[in-house]
Amino acid sequence: MTIFVTGGAGFIGAAVVRQIIERTNHAVINVDKMTYAADLNRLDSVNDCDRYCLERVDVGDREKLTALFRRHQPEGVIHLAAESHVDRSIDGPAAFMSTNILGTFALLETAYAYWQEVGQPREFRFHHVSTDEVYGSTDKDHLFDEACPYKPSSPYAASKASADHLVRAWHTTYKLPIVMTNGSNTYGPYQFPEKFIPLMIVKGSLGEPMPVYGDGQNVRDWIHVDDHAAAIWHVFERGDNGQTYNIGGRTTPTNLDVVNHICQLLDIHHSTRNRRPHDKLITLVTDRPGHDAAYAVDPTKLETTLGWTRHHSFDEGLKATVDWYLENHHWWQAILDQRYSGERLGRGHILEQVS
Ligand code: NAD
Ligand code: TYD
Repeated sequence: MTIFVTGGAGFIGAAVVRQIIERTNHAVINVDKMTYAADLNRLDSVNDCDRYCLERVDVGDREKLTALFRRHQPEGVIHLAAESHVDRSIDGPAAFMSTNILGTFALLETAYAYWQEVGQPREFRFHHVSTDEVYGSTDKDHLFDEACPYKPSSPYAASKASADHLVRAWHTTYKLPIVMTNGSNTYGPYQFPEKFIPLMIVKGSLGEPMPVYGDGQNVRDWIHVDDHAAAIWHVFERGDNGQTYNIGGRTTPTNLDVVNHICQLLDIHHSTRNRRPHDKLITLVTDRPGHDAAYAVDPTKLETTLGWTRHHSFDEGLKATVDWYLENHHWWQAILDQRYSGERLGRGHILEQVS
């Protein structure tokens, strides 16, 4: 089978590509525009495989997509390409609307036209990868299930919610076979250091202030990238046509819990240096506008109907992630030097110092 993976040079997309190439005999066409967030180092382990190739194409480019579908004749699409960072969506929402909404629209139209051309095979599958942020904010005792209404807060979440509605409309109206996953906050090796966990590790290991928004009591549901990628593949293979599955880690610490945990892990690594304790670097800064208080996902449907289980506990996954960033300094230092130097995104300034 040949599968299109859009956004396969991104953090989660690359983990999906690696898993398909390393664990199956399928071929993967990575359709990626190669934005600032893309990184081909994530694909080093599959680059030489003749079942893998990269097509530098924007998912909004109908002409090129149509040619790609005809040339590679895929049996399915896993659509991860997106602008993915909430803070950037606050500073510049246009790219999010363009890629996440209009890009998904273009991909749906070209996938549908191709699916018709090849005789509407029932086995074809358009898997849309989305986020739990479409449900808006919850409290810690109430988990999002698949029936929760959509209430997105940020421009990023609103653009993903729009894309989800388009994908469901193409299924309901045109019978395009689809599955959808709404995943929780993801962490692990190779995550771009604008996101919370890698940013805290990088800042802490450099001895710089570790900026926590607001009072640090916001809650996120964390899942390891390898678990998220495995769940996506699990749903692609086994999910029922037209169904949505939430993917979550059943781990809901506050942001301060997470950053304190990172500091303890950094203390162990930097025991001989003059950096301890790292928690003296934790700095509360002005809150993100529209900051959702809590996300917490109920993955019961995925676990019970499709038999999925996660393999990484947050404690073990976070420790391995801190180890990875400390051992792969060269990877993130090159990003800091060339693409993102660790500055505050999404507007704000330091309010007060903790401890
Ligand atoms: P990422 O930002 O690391 O990677 C996105 C990839 O998409 C990049 O390689 C980029 O070059 C590519 N891309 C962007 N615009 C494109 C376009 N117009 N055409 C083709 N390629 C384009 O993102 P990620 O963290 O790997 O997230 C992947 C998907 O998972 C996204 O759809 C995101 O909404 C969703 N998601 C992410 C998280 C998370 O915590 N990171 C959680 C849940 C869901
Ligand atoms: P982030 O990784 O941006 O993911 P999302 O906003 O999609 O959940 O942020 C995770 C949490 O960490 C979120 O509550 C915002 C917070 N945060 C900080 O406190 N400081 C930071 O520098 C960043 C980037 C995020």
